[in-house]
Formats: sequence, structure tokens, C-alpha cells
Amino acid sequence: MSGAPNAAPAAGTPRELYGETLFVRDTPERQRLRLLGEVFDPYSTKALTEIGVHPGTRCLEIGAGGGSMARWLCGQATSSVVVATDLDVSALEAGRRANLLPMVHDVTRDTFPDESFDLVHARFVLNHLPERDQVLKRVVRWLRPGGVLMVESFSWFPLDSSPNAAYRKAMLRWGDLVRDTIGTDSRWARNYPASLGPYGLRGLGAKTFTQHIRGGSELARFWRLTVDMSKQQLLDKGYLSAAEYEDFTKSTEDPDFWDLAPALTQAWGRK
Ligand SMILES: C[S@@+](CC[C@H](N)C(=O)[O-])C[C@H]1O[C@@H](n2cnc3c(N)ncnc32)[C@H](O)[C@@H]1O
Repeated sequence: MSGAPNAAPAAGTPRELYGETLFVRDTPERQRLRLLGEVFDPYSTKALTEIGVHPGTRCLEIGAGGGSMARWLCGQATSSVVVATDLDVSALEAGRRANLLPMVHDVTRDTFPDESFDLVHARFVLNHLPERDQVLKRVVRWLRPGGVLMVESFSWFPLDSSPNAAYRKAMLRWGDLVRDTIGTDSRWARNYPASLGPYGLRGLGAKTFTQHIRGGSELARFWRLTVDMSKQQLLDKGYLSAAEYEDFTKSTEDPDFWDLAPALTQAWGRK
């Protein structure tokens, strides 16, 4: 089943794609993407505001998901088109802004002309792609000289020291399941921004935010829903017992439960 905790999958390991059996685009995934935006957009928009998004900035939002960040970029870039890609762009159509261009685009295979964009943003996408190094190399080509790449992902380390056994085990085992199934590396962002250096980016910067998670909070609902979507696989494949799953669920609903959530790490660099 699983190898060393949170190790990258062995080369050649058969794997599924995001959305096949994990993160299927049914109602829970849409709701989860909406919650994701509510919890993390304030951090992302603050960082991007500091980087600078102005009328005329040509933006690419990779793996736009529910589209909250793409819509925000549209409001900043106004006079230019914001290209928002995903394997599934259905959530980008609702309330579509005039300068939003949704595009079905697999970032591991499809391309853009060199130097097409002033700003490229990808949040919680590259961590899910085993080809992330190759993808980064290509994405940097799509930036004009002086353009900025900003990537965001989870840093898993707060889970390692969690004093709450049920929470720690369920979250770490969920991480193992997504690693083994689609190749997600939940620890990749721990090496930001150094991991961006080899791609020719300069002026590197990074920030990490650790958030407290309390039972019943929006953040607890987000993580509960995230783990819940994989409940069957977690139980059927033996990653968690039913009792362990139940204990985790209770924690996420208990207002006396406090811990640290996986941290949010942001990193950026200029071409
Ligand atoms: C965890 S969601 C994050 C959504 C959005 N970036 C956000 O932070 O709100 C990951 C998104 O990446 C998309 N995705 C996964 N693999 C992709 C690929 N190869 N190319 C483009 N998008 C992909 C998924 O469909 C999903 O919408």
C-alpha cells in the first residue's frame, strides 16, 4: 500500500489523475473549492496586491478550480484578459466577468506561447502534479522577462507535532492516500522558495502562515470535507479504521478541539 510517510511515489508507479476517483467534481468538491476560496483568498489577494496586479496586467490562473482568484484577478487587471485554466472549467462560467477567459488546459501537457503573461498564479495545484518540475520549467517560459510567478501550497509540518492523535493520524494518512493515488506531494512547499531558483527566477520571496483550527470552524469544515471525500478509499484500502475515522470526525465538530492546520506557504519570483 504505502511506502515511507509522505515520500514521493516511485518512478513509474501507476497512478490516477486528479478528479478520477479523488476530488471528483461532484457537489462536495464544488463546495470544498468554495470553502477553499473563503478561507485562503484573503492571504492570496494580499500577497498578489503587494506583488502588484494592475489594469493591463496579463494574468494566467492555473488550475482555477472554483474561480474565486480568477474573478479577483479580473477585477484588478480590468483592461486585460485573465486566462483561467483547469481540467474542468464548469465552475468558471457562473457570473463570468467580461475579461475572464476560461480554458480547458492540462498544465502537464498543453502549452502557451512564450512570454504571454505578466503574472502567473497557481494555488494548491502543483503539489498534486508529480510532473511539477517539468511544469515549472514550461510555465516560466510563458512569462515575459520581468514577469512574476506566484505559487501556493500546503506545508504539512504542523501535523507532525500535533498532540491530537486522531487528527494527526487521519490527516497524515489522508496525505498518504493522495500521494499513493495521484502523486500529490504535501511536503513540497516546505522547500519554497529555494525550489523556484533552478528555473531562472530571481528576487525570490516566501511567506508561511500557520492557522489554528478549531472544531466547528470554517477551516475545520474545509479539512473535514476534504478528508470526507476520500472516506471510502481511506477505509477500504486500510489507511484508517472506522473508529479512527469517527474520532477524527468528532474532533472537527468539537468546539473544544484546537490544533494547527497544515500551513499555507506562498512563494514568488521574477523572470
Ligand atoms: C485543490 S484545487 C485548487 C483550486 C484553485 N486553484 C484554488 O486554490 O481555489 C486544484 C485544481 O487544480 C486542477 N487541476 C488538477 N490537475 C490539473 C492539470 N493537470 N491541469 C490543470 N488543472 C489541474 C483541478 O481540477 C482543481 O480545480
